[in-house]
Amino acid sequence: MRTPIIAGNWKMNKTAVEAVQFVREIRQGLQNIQGVDKVVCPPFIAIPGVYEALQATDIGIGAQNMWYEDKGAYTGEIAPDMLTPFCQYVILGHSERRAYYCETDEGVNKKTKAALAHGLTPIICVGETLEQNEAGETQAFVSGQVKAALDGLTDEQVASCVIAYEPIWAIGTGKSASAAQAGSIIGLSVRGAIAEVYGEAVAQQVRIQYGGSVKEGNIAEYMAHPDIDGALVGGASLKPGFVELVRNAVA
Ligand code: 13P
Repeated sequence: MRTPIIAGNWKMNKTAVEAVQFVREIRQGLQNIQGVDKVVCPPFIAIPGVYEALQATDIGIGAQNMWYEDKGAYTGEIAPDMLTPFCQYVILGHSERRAYYCETDEGVNKKTKAALAHGLTPIICVGETLEQNEAGETQAFVSGQVKAALDGLTDEQVASCVIAYEPIWAIGTGKSASAAQAGSIIGLSVRGAIAEVYGEAVAQQVRIQYGGSVKEGNIAEYMAHPDIDGALVGGASLKPGFVELVRNAVA
């Protein structure tokens, strides 16, 4: 059985002070919910404060990005070892990073390897654009992204990854993919692609999230699909209602 995982991707929201205030507000509520891994992913600069505020809770912390080298002349970047004292997770290859910061499948693969080598669980994001979706290219594109991100990993490493399927047309638009739509892509193009390369037994261990306009009111529908193991939540993870969203995921 795969433990569901709900992660809040705060994106570029909340100052360090606001972040600490917010997690103080939601921590007890989240702490009361069992049977699901709960993760918050604040901006880098807020991570140490959030870490302090979440001491003695079972709420995980993730970064939103990371560079793959250990150290050196990479102005503006953050290395794996800078995250490991605070974080258990790192989001990699989010569509916003691919679109605005030139992230490639090859780079996401390097980052995935670096995260695993340093004991961080990668949350690898994949998903198609509206044009690709309308042209019927979703399956081929998404399975290509999945295979590229996981290329060269061992079975154990693959099994430990989290993949987030986030159709780009559903992010921040209020236009979510239906649970049937998302579950079908996740089953065929994400779990299916992993099974093709690493076998069904490995594919069955990988936790796969849906992301894109997930809210308190629709999370239960996604969770009811057998191939969906949780959600990567943007906008709805910034408000106290995130607690209810997580509660509804396991209700
Ligand atoms: P929204 O939940 O705001 O649509 O964002 C989804 C997302 O991109 C999470 O990574």
